[in-house]
Amino acid sequence: MTLIGLAYNQKPEPTELTSPISEGGRQEDGELPRPDEEPPSNNVHRSILELVSRDEFAEWDSPTTIAAVESALSLLGKVVRLEANEDFPEKLRLTRPDIVFNIAEGFHGVNREAHVPAICEFFGIPYSGSDPFTLSLCLDKARTKETLAFHGIPTPPFAVVEKLDDLKGVLKKLNLPLFVKPLHEGSSKGITDSNLCFDREHLIRQAEFLLENYKQPVLVEEYLPGNEFTCAVLGNGDEATVLPIVGMNFETLPKGALPIYSFDAKFVWDRPENPLDIFQCPARITRELQASIERVTLDAFRVLGCRDWARIDVRLDAFGNPNVLEVNPLPGILPDPADNSCLPKAARAAGIGYEELIQNCLKYAAARQGVDLDHSLSRVSGAQGASALAASGSA
Ligand SMILES: Nc1ncnc2c1ncn2[C@@H]1O[C@H](COP(=O)(O)OP(=O)(O)OP(=O)(O)O)[C@@H](O)[C@H]1O
Ligand SMILES: [Mg+2]
Repeated sequence: MTLIGLAYNQKPEPTELTSPISEGGRQEDGELPRPDEEPPSNNVHRSILELVSRDEFAEWDSPTTIAAVESALSLLGKVVRLEANEDFPEKLRLTRPDIVFNIAEGFHGVNREAHVPAICEFFGIPYSGSDPFTLSLCLDKARTKETLAFHGIPTPPFAVVEKLDDLKGVLKKLNLPLFVKPLHEGSSKGITDSNLCFDREHLIRQAEFLLENYKQPVLVEEYLPGNEFTCAVLGNGDEATVLPIVGMNFETLPKGALPIYSFDAKFVWDRPENPLDIFQCPARITRELQASIERVTLDAFRVLGCRDWARIDVRLDAFGNPNVLEVNPLPGILPDPADNSCLPKAARAAGIGYEELIQNCLKYAAARQGVDLDHSLSRVSGAQGASALAASGSA
């Protein structure tokens, strides 16, 4: 029987997340509120500690997600849980699974997402998803953008600020408004409406806040005013496919909120008991726009060396051209549709259920590495899958 190790980091018990603003519609005129109009995140005094501590474990998975993944994998072999804590290397060495299914976001440092794959590599154990290099690269938004830019893939002009002094040249090089964010985070950590800066003073204030509280450089990027999409990719090589594109409707955010997929938008205003109707999948866009979004998505997936699956955020610039914002080679995979997790959502729109999504990812990984899985149906299944495995010669 195939032994499948499931590598994960489990979130501590959830703390109460409360929204600083009440429910309501967006402001009627649809215009961006200026910073001095107090976007919602600033309405109520929120202590800095609260802001930083509440998103500390945002990337890690809940017991529900881990159980759902385990259950999906169990149809393809015997699953052994390998929590990615400090005992992980020893547990992995003793268990020696045939393959590791990796959803571990990691503990410490800017290479945290690479640790589990690197340890698997060390022991020569196959694993799912991107390799340590790609995981580290994509967790550095600036290095990712350098790679994209080198390959001619559109991404907003940017600068990296390690100390406030570095801001001096930035306004000569980049055009306002600017968006600032921590260089090495995901899951909307450190993303609030205050990160959109219309003037120099605001830019300095917000960069200082992020530098002090997230203890890492800040990415300063030109703001993209157009619509936003997130695109899930499944598969490898020429067979990698973009699942139905997820479009975001920021009109559904509370009154006064900016058109930004912030921490509040993701985790506070959008609750399973009261889901926000922010996503449209498949996005209703022209065929032409769909094709150009798919093109930049697949190009980004390829040049960054992503494998098996990924989720890529795309936003339109002032001319309506798709730009890559960032790449998630370890995408969120919350199983409950009410949780509005975009990769499972896109898969559902393609006729691929949650279990099938997880299984397909493992099957792509197994096929790449010549690992045999148990199930008699160990072909990639679903709307777009079977041909990929057939092409890889492992079906
Ligand atoms: N240059 C930009 N122009 C416009 N909006 C931006 C820009 N950069 C970021 N945003 C907004 O901020 C959101 C979060 O940024 P980003 O995707 O880089 O953060 P993240 O925490 O890595 O996201 P995820 O939750 O997908 O891991 C984007 O979805 C977008 O709405
Ligand atoms: Mg993102």
